[in-house]
Amino acid sequence: MKIAVIGTGYVGLVTGTCLAETGNDVICIDINTEKVKKMQNGEIPIYEPGLDLLFHRNIEQGRLHFSTDLAAAIKASEIIFMALPTPPGGDGAADLSYILGAAKDIANIIEDYKVIVNKSTVPVGTADKVKAVFENNSSVNVDVVSNPEFLREGVAVDDFMKPDRIVLGTKSERAKALMTELYNPYVRQGNPILFMDERSSELTKYAANSFLATKITFMNEIANLCELVGADVDSVRRGIGADERIGKRFLFPGIGYGGSCFPKDVQALSMAASEVNYDFKILKSVMTVNQEQKLLLVSKLLKYYNQDINGKHFAIWGLAFKPETDDIREAPALYIIDELIKKGATVTVFDPEAMDNINNIIGDKVSYAKGQYEALENADALLIATEWSLFRTPDFSRMEEKLISKVIFDGRNLYDLQKMIDMGYYYNSVGRKL
Ligand code: UGA
Repeated sequence: MKIAVIGTGYVGLVTGTCLAETGNDVICIDINTEKVKKMQNGEIPIYEPGLDLLFHRNIEQGRLHFSTDLAAAIKASEIIFMALPTPPGGDGAADLSYILGAAKDIANIIEDYKVIVNKSTVPVGTADKVKAVFENNSSVNVDVVSNPEFLREGVAVDDFMKPDRIVLGTKSERAKALMTELYNPYVRQGNPILFMDERSSELTKYAANSFLATKITFMNEIANLCELVGADVDSVRRGIGADERIGKRFLFPGIGYGGSCFPKDVQALSMAASEVNYDFKILKSVMTVNQEQKLLLVSKLLKYYNQDINGKHFAIWGLAFKPETDDIREAPALYIIDELIKKGATVTVFDPEAMDNINNIIGDKVSYAKGQYEALENADALLIATEWSLFRTPDFSRMEEKLISKVIFDGRNLYDLQKMIDMGYYYNSVGRKL
C-alpha cells in the first residue's frame, strides 16, 4: 500500500520504518530540511535498538523515503498517518495546532479519497475537530481514524511488529477494510484489531498509560510501606504478580515513572476529567506520590548523613528515564541532581547513552565521567537511578578502590541484599530491608 507519514519524531519514524518492513511503500514527511537530508543519507536521528537495521534495509530496498514535499507525498498515498507533537499548551491541555494545521494543509492538497490516521496522543474529541477541518476546507471525501500508539521506547520495533492489540477508532466500513489490510501482517499470532468509535479510541490511550502509571505508583507505595514494616517488596511483588488478574509486569518499584508519556498523559487525563466536572481523585494522588518518589533517594541520603550533605560528593549511575533510551524527559535523575546541588553537594554522572542530552540541559553543574568506574572516583556514595544492564553485575572490587566509602543508594534494586551485606556495603534499596 502507499503510505505517507507526517512527522518523523519518535512515533513517526518507528511507524514509517515498520510499515515499510511489511512491503508498503512509505514516504515520511518532515518540515525540518536538515533532518530530512540526514535521513535521506541514511542517518538515523534517534537511538532505538533494532530500528537502524530496518531503517537501512528499507531505504536500500526503496520502500522507505524521506521528503519535505508534503503535496507530492499526499497525492501519492492512500493512507496518511499523522504523527505530530501535541505538547502541553499554556493551560496544560494538549496543543493541537500541529495536528489541525497539518489537517488543513492536507485538505488543501487532496483530490481523491484518503484515510487520515492520527497516531499522536490526543484529547477525546480531536478526531471530530480534524473531520471539521476537512469539511471546512475540502469537498473531497476522507475518513479520519484514531489509531493510538502503545509502543514503548527501547522496545519500540518489537512493540510495533508484534503489538498486543491495535486500536482503531472509526465507524467507516471503507476505512476499516483498508486498515485491516494494512495491519493484518502485524497480528498473525492472533492478537486483536479492536474497532471502536473515535472517542473511545482516544480515551483508551490515556486510560492505558494512566492505569500503568497507577500500577507502578501503587507498587512504589507498597515498597515504601515494606521498609516501615520490615517486609520485602520483591517477595510481595512475586506474591501478588502470580495472580493473573494482577499480572507480573509493571510491578517493579523504583524512584518514580518518567518519560515523555506517563507524566504528560496522567496530567492530561486528570485535567480532561476536571473539564467535565469529574474529580479523578486517584490520578491526583498518583501525580503527588510519583513526584515524591523521584526524590526518595535524596531523602534517604539526607537521613543517612544527618540532613547535611554540604561538601559531599556523589556519583550517579544512570540518567535516562529508563534503560535502552537516551531520553531524559521527566527522568528522576534530573530531580535528584537538582536537589543534591541545592543542598551543597557535588555530583559526577555516567550514563551509556544520555550524557549529551543531560549536558544540553545542566551543562557544567555536574562532572561527566567516561565510564561507570571513573564516575566513582572520590565519591562518598553511589546513587543508581536507571537500571541499565551494565550496572547489574559490576566489578565490586574496582568500585571499592574508587569510592571513599562503601555506600550505595539503589533506586532500581539491582543487587542481591545478602551479597551486599556480605561484601560490607551499606546498601539502601527500595522496599527492602537494610
Ligand atoms: C509508555 C507505555 O508503556 C507505552 O505503552 C506507550 O505507548 C508510551 O508510554 C507512549 O505513550 O508513547 P514508555 O514511556 O516508553 O512507554 O516507557 P515504559 O517502559 O512504559 O516506562 C515508563 C516509566 O515507568 C519509566 O520511568 C519506568 O522506569 C517506569 N516503570 C516501568 C517502573 O517504575 N516500574 C515498572 O515496573 C515499569
